[in-house]
Amino acid sequence: MKAVTWHGRRDVQVEEVPDPTLQAPTDAIVRITSSGLCGSDLHLYETLGPFMGEGDILGHEPMGIVEEVGPGVGDLRAGDRVVMPFQICCGHCWMCTQGLHTQCETTQVRDQGMGAALFGFSKLYGEVPGAQAEYLRVPQAQFMPIKVPEGPSDERFLYLSDVLPTAWQSVAYASVPKDGSLLVLGLGPIGDMAVRIALLQGKRVIAVDRVPERLARAAALGAEVISLDEVDDIGEEVRSRTHGRGTDSVIDAVGMEAHGSPVSEMGQRLFNVLPKRLSASIMNKVGLDRMSAIYTAIDAVRRGGTVSLIGVYGGQSDPMPMLTMFDKQLQFRMGQANVKRWVDDIMPLLVDDADPLGTEDFATHRVRLEDAPAAYEQFQKKADGTIKVVFKPGAR
Ligand SMILES: NC(=O)c1ccc[n+]([C@@H]2O[C@H](COP(=O)([O-])OP(=O)(O)OC[C@H]3O[C@@H](n4cnc5c(N)ncnc54)[C@H](O)[C@@H]3O)[C@@H](O)[C@H]2O)c1
Ligand SMILES: [Zn+2]
Ligand SMILES: [Zn+2]
Repeated sequence: MKAVTWHGRRDVQVEEVPDPTLQAPTDAIVRITSSGLCGSDLHLYETLGPFMGEGDILGHEPMGIVEEVGPGVGDLRAGDRVVMPFQICCGHCWMCTQGLHTQCETTQVRDQGMGAALFGFSKLYGEVPGAQAEYLRVPQAQFMPIKVPEGPSDERFLYLSDVLPTAWQSVAYASVPKDGSLLVLGLGPIGDMAVRIALLQGKRVIAVDRVPERLARAAALGAEVISLDEVDDIGEEVRSRTHGRGTDSVIDAVGMEAHGSPVSEMGQRLFNVLPKRLSASIMNKVGLDRMSAIYTAIDAVRRGGTVSLIGVYGGQSDPMPMLTMFDKQLQFRMGQANVKRWVDDIMPLLVDDADPLGTEDFATHRVRLEDAPAAYEQFQKKADGTIKVVFKPGAR
């Protein structure tokens, strides 16, 4: 089969690789009809290279048709139309029964000290072959596949694999009070979808990015937007719009690729209180840029408010402004999304004829697998209006 494989920093290729086969009674093989490209894939493309293996198959946002099943998959049948969560989880361990599927005790990558295995996501997460391919082996298929109805287009349901539950969880974890306000940092697919969900829930939403078409899309949905390039101090700007307090909640949908962003005042203040030698060495090691979104979140949230981190962070020694976090009495929630935890909440919106979350027009680019190298590059550069890319394996 054809698959998108990792070969080095900013080097993905499309190769012929062996077809996946059933390896356990609870495995299924799915023929992929649509497969998303995610901001998380950009971390592998750019930063997490040391954890990648040459030839690893990328991708974790798949849907398709069941082709073959093992004897232990319950009522899953060849021909079923299914979406797979990006994390691999069993459904019956203690963590799964708590709705914490990204901590699944059956698939935790214990030799790396990490949570549940993920499709296509480096040695840290089990080096499981990913879904930007023609076929996918689905482990734990007695629980994993989300069956979806025939009829509507793939894109109605595709985002159940990641974007929708991730954005949903980010809003849930933000605990925006009734009639409250929410600041969303980053308007890639995740932030954009979080804006849609929060607006649907009747919240006031302020959204920040620097890419004009991403800002325009959020503004058209009904968010108030702020461009990073037009405002020096996001915290000040947000306070000026919220009675001097800041928003009740902030979602950081940026994570550690906050490249090229201005060093926030918070970051500068933080580094000013450290001894010079120490601050320089920390700055070299972690790079203030990488922390810029989270510092903005801490600065712009009101006292007693909640910060929901859904953008991925990967450092082990990132400097955090504990004085401010403690004094402002902040609450933090974070982590990979527990996909299955939210499916029942989201599904009614997807089978609603009106498509209230705009799933059918959400993708900006639909491309063949063969075009993956260009699609990765364009998505990373945010060129050609790229917001969401969906691969269509099998399309000619
Ligand atoms: N927790 C989860 O389960 C989960 C799941 C999927 C994605 N993610 C993470 O969510 C994040 C966003 O994913 P995406 O697909 O939307 O990616 P993306 O890269 O398209 O979006 C990030 C956006 O942030 C903007 N940005 C950069 N620096 C900024 C700053 N300082 N302030 C405001 N905006 C800034 C960029 O211009 C870009 O539009 C990534 O870190 C991704 O890994 C997490
Ligand atoms: Zn993803
Ligand atoms: Zn489990």
